[in-house]
Amino acid sequence: MNFLFVSNADSAEDWSRALSDIRPDINTQIHPDIGDPSAIDYALVWRPPPGLLASLPNLKLIFSVGAGVDGLIEDPTLPAGVPVVRMVDQGLTEGMTEYVVWQVMNRHRRAALYRQDQEARRWRPRHLRLARNRTVGVLGLGEIGCDAARMLAALRFQVLGWSRTPKSISGVDCHHGRQGLRAVASKAEILVCLLPLTEETAGILNRDLFALMPRGAYLINAARGGHLVEADLLAALDDGALIGASLDVFREEPLPQDHPFWSHPDITITPHDASLTSPASGVRSIANAITCHEAGRPVPNVVDLAQGY
Ligand code: NAP
Ligand code: GLV
Repeated sequence: MNFLFVSNADSAEDWSRALSDIRPDINTQIHPDIGDPSAIDYALVWRPPPGLLASLPNLKLIFSVGAGVDGLIEDPTLPAGVPVVRMVDQGLTEGMTEYVVWQVMNRHRRAALYRQDQEARRWRPRHLRLARNRTVGVLGLGEIGCDAARMLAALRFQVLGWSRTPKSISGVDCHHGRQGLRAVASKAEILVCLLPLTEETAGILNRDLFALMPRGAYLINAARGGHLVEADLLAALDDGALIGASLDVFREEPLPQDHPFWSHPDITITPHDASLTSPASGVRSIANAITCHEAGRPVPNVVDLAQGY
């Protein structure tokens, strides 16, 4: 069977090797070397050029290298009727949870203040506040949000979670719907965004939400840049509504050299590498999906195009 791999990352050879290690019958073409478009059975993609997938007439499944499919399903020419399968991978999830815990702990234990003290050679013991007395809100309780919320609860934070449909997660105070967002935001001293980028969630991290949050709250966005209204974040940091933010994702990536976030003292930037799908583990869910498809069984993790995730 023939795979087409499309991504601007330099991992093509790794994916190609991992695919043929797990299914020796897979032959991988690496974009832009497509070969015969009608011979491609499956595509494994990250932000493919619009129109490319429509040029492959015999596609059976489209696999996303990433968990988020916004950069894929926004293509108006996406071939109708070809299921899009998003990445659900234990390693990807674990990496995201590690990033969330890292950023939450940095804020919780006020790492920036200790760094300033050290730079000034200042010995200043600080009052300790335990995690059990700190409230963290998690927007999105899917594969990643649920894992991160559970881990934060295991660290004894008071965790509030928000999803579209009702959820029950041990140790997490779960809310859903518009009213639920208000309930979470109004208590969250640290708010973590792990939502998919959809019509409903675009721009959700905005001044109205920041105004609901306790004064001096901290924002962590590891989902997509399109969730954040950048000017509203800068204004909220300026007037003290928010005390800081950790951002892994941006509207424009790479973040432009002259972007004000780079030099902002209260913004911590990482270059969209909170977590990555490793080819060695990611191919397992791909192989499983192909097996299900070949056997006529439901394919796991197919994107609901109407919901956008
Ligand atoms: P997922 O399993 O599809 O979970 C999405 C969660 O968001 C679900 O709980 C869903 O609610 C909730 N949700 C969706 N629309 C909502 C709405 N309108 N209101 C309230 N809740 C809503 O996704 P995932 O695998 O956890 O991934 C989440 C996102 O993380 C991805 O889409 C991607 O953007 C981002 N990500 C970033 C990185 C990185 O390196 N920075 C890596 C991986 C993923 P229901 O449970 O009710 O459906
Ligand atoms: C990365 O951003 C992903 O969606 O997996």
